[in-house]
Amino acid sequence: MKKSIKDFDLNNKKVIIRVDFNVPIKDNKILDDNRIISSLKTIKYAIDNNAKIILLSHLGRIKTEEDKLVNDLKVVVKRLSELLNKDVIFVDETRGKVLEDTINNLKPKDIVLVQNTRYEDLDGKLESSNDEELGEYWASFGDIFINDAFATSHRSHASNVGIASNIESGIGFLVLEELDKLKMLDDPKRPYTVILGGAKVSDKIGVIESLSKTCDYILIGGGMAYTFLKSLGYNIGKSLLDNESIDFCDKMLKKYKDKIILPVDSVVSKKFNEDVCIKNNEDFDSNDIALDIGEKTIEKFKEILKSSNTVFWNGPLGYSEYEKYSKGTKDILEFLSKQDKTVIIGGGDTASSAINFGYKNSFTHISTGGGAALELIEGKTLPGIDVIEDK
Ligand code: 3PG
Repeated sequence: MKKSIKDFDLNNKKVIIRVDFNVPIKDNKILDDNRIISSLKTIKYAIDNNAKIILLSHLGRIKTEEDKLVNDLKVVVKRLSELLNKDVIFVDETRGKVLEDTINNLKPKDIVLVQNTRYEDLDGKLESSNDEELGEYWASFGDIFINDAFATSHRSHASNVGIASNIESGIGFLVLEELDKLKMLDDPKRPYTVILGGAKVSDKIGVIESLSKTCDYILIGGGMAYTFLKSLGYNIGKSLLDNESIDFCDKMLKKYKDKIILPVDSVVSKKFNEDVCIKNNEDFDSNDIALDIGEKTIEKFKEILKSSNTVFWNGPLGYSEYEKYSKGTKDILEFLSKQDKTVIIGGGDTASSAINFGYKNSFTHISTGGGAALELIEGKTLPGIDVIEDK
């Protein structure tokens, strides 16, 4: 059992909390603040216990100077202040005298948010390669390190593993909750059905392989379904195809013939954003692009879900960020929201869809972690959690 924030006396201590504020931002506006909201419990606990709080987070991926401009945590500090109803100091640096002085002058209950940890990636990927000196340097800011960035826990970076290797460490409430809820999938009430969507099969090979062994059904939608259909010999037109994964799909379909359920029809169009119609798998033209699952597929999926007792869902079933291709994802969300079952929604786009379509409180759990949740369910060790001290 890992130490948690509750195992430390925080009074007057400098507590570094690694949060995941990697939220979608467009035109300087946060499109989904769920990850910020989910981190409040730990931050508030640290405030209530008189800690001096140092928040670290990444935002996006930084390869160029331009990336820095669109991944500036300044946007987030404003929202965090509003949510906490409290001033949050922002330091537009990831190292240096200004940052060090600010931290040294913190009083109990003060909070400082440090600029995007991945700004350190521009010159030698110091954050993402868990540079030893950077981890040590950041660790020198605090007395205690709390990892509450579940969504980043599958990464071994300086701002999680690096810091935790140098000072006392524990996990925060968000991570505790994630581990507790995702553990339900270790011994699920059966039938256990997994819904997988999203674009590329190759991103999910590990999870498909491991879940096919443990679940009773895998319902496949989204762009990845068409690589599976292609492997069965269907003409998929110009739908998304992950060429390198055709053999893998073929192998999986042979091995798990009755477990893997594919769309039977799809919403198709000749061009993105033009008129759509619904076509069966057999009827695709060479110019058709599949954009969502069709009505028959929705009904087929519902039939299986109705008789399931546990459902895990990762990946939207169509281009659900566009209203006209969101029906499949919406209908299945609506259907599951009315069922008395264990329903766990994996993070990333599926979590955003569930929240944006109004189902924030309708399920057993909506994970904040996309890749991290998948790796945990696959049975992999998450380095950001593994590194934390045991009780
Ligand atoms: C996520 O959004 O999955 C996490 O914040 C990790 O981000 P990354 O995939 O860029 O490491």
